[in-house]
Amino acid sequence: MTFGAVAVDAGDLPLGGGLLALLRPALASTEPGGVVALLSTSRATAQDLPSFCRAERHEYLGAEALPDGQTRHLIRRGPFSVPKHAREAPLSLATGPMTAAAMLAAVPMPDAATPDTAFAPRGAQVEPGGPTYPFSLVKRDLVAPPEIAALYDQAVAAQWNAATDIPWNELVELDPRIERAVGQIMTFLAENELAALYVPARFLPRIHPAFVETSMFLATQLADEARHAHVYLARARAQGGSLGTSSAVTGYSLRGLLEPEDFVESTFLLSVLGEGTFLDLLRFVEAHAPDRCTQEIARRTRLDEARHVHFGLAHVRHALAHDPTVFARLEAATLRRAASLPATASAPAPLADALVLLAAGSVEPAKVARGHEAYRALLEEMHEARRKRLVHAGFDEAQADRLSLLHTPNFM
Ligand SMILES: [Fe+2]
Ligand SMILES: [Fe+2]
Repeated sequence: MTFGAVAVDAGDLPLGGGLLALLRPALASTEPGGVVALLSTSRATAQDLPSFCRAERHEYLGAEALPDGQTRHLIRRGPFSVPKHAREAPLSLATGPMTAAAMLAAVPMPDAATPDTAFAPRGAQVEPGGPTYPFSLVKRDLVAPPEIAALYDQAVAAQWNAATDIPWNELVELDPRIERAVGQIMTFLAENELAALYVPARFLPRIHPAFVETSMFLATQLADEARHAHVYLARARAQGGSLGTSSAVTGYSLRGLLEPEDFVESTFLLSVLGEGTFLDLLRFVEAHAPDRCTQEIARRTRLDEARHVHFGLAHVRHALAHDPTVFARLEAATLRRAASLPATASAPAPLADALVLLAAGSVEPAKVARGHEAYRALLEEMHEARRKRLVHAGFDEAQADRLSLLHTPNFM
């Protein structure tokens, strides 16, 4: 009889005394049908092995006595247990730090995930017979752009602390009308942040864990949005102020963000159009901030938003490159959202007024006129930057212009 290279030297270990911790891994490391040779001096093992093999659905092939007093038992691995371990790319710390990108790349993402692997980490041996799971986002091209693990690593490295990384002690006493304008802007920002927290959260439980890089990235995005809401509300109240107005148009606009059931459409509306437009808004707040604290809040949250926009563009570009029907779906989603807004919708008036005063920095009429000019310029810049982003995503110039103009006047 010939047998495979796998041999287990078990000494006098009995089956119920630790032998299985050697035998089972040896069987798992062979292909189904492969043979393991077990060397043993235990008489009890010789008695127990055949029934163990029947119970675990391996085939006991028999035993032969060796001249040195040991017995060699031969066991053929059954076809029913976990598959042999997949080959993985070697991972060495010598090549750099243990990033998620390096670790997760050791076992590449599948093109399509199967329902039976569920939460088993990619690369784990999955025992057959487990349950199936109802994850609906199972195609890599519509879930995970190639740079997703690197974006997760960037996000982890860039986390900051709302309590300690903002110079709260650098607030200054402002004209109460300017302070109220800041409070209004922060109220608006916080409301939109909460939507940015809830919208991607809807998709996270639908993503098959085979694409865990995207789930992990979204987890950082949710933490970012929670921190943004925290820091904006804290700034609104920091000088003893109260919150401003939540406008109906913001309510309609954000409800429109919650409606898409498609992950790519949702990412497009939220991250490419909405968060993309917020980059310009936050740059405006940073440029005209009346104190270092407000300025740093705008700067730090903008840097996080830039990463969310990066993910949005990567996700949408990757999907568009692999499925040309996505163009029409994104256009239709933008049109549906525009149609769900009141016909007369324009930028929320309390916010527009507050942005004018912020840019004026004063209530002197001449300065307010300049603030108004700066606000008009901001709207132009938002449209122009959105157009460019849409072209970068893969739309032609005419489509980009049309979609940008259809974007909500609520900015997000
Ligand atoms: Fe945010
Ligand atoms: Fe965001």
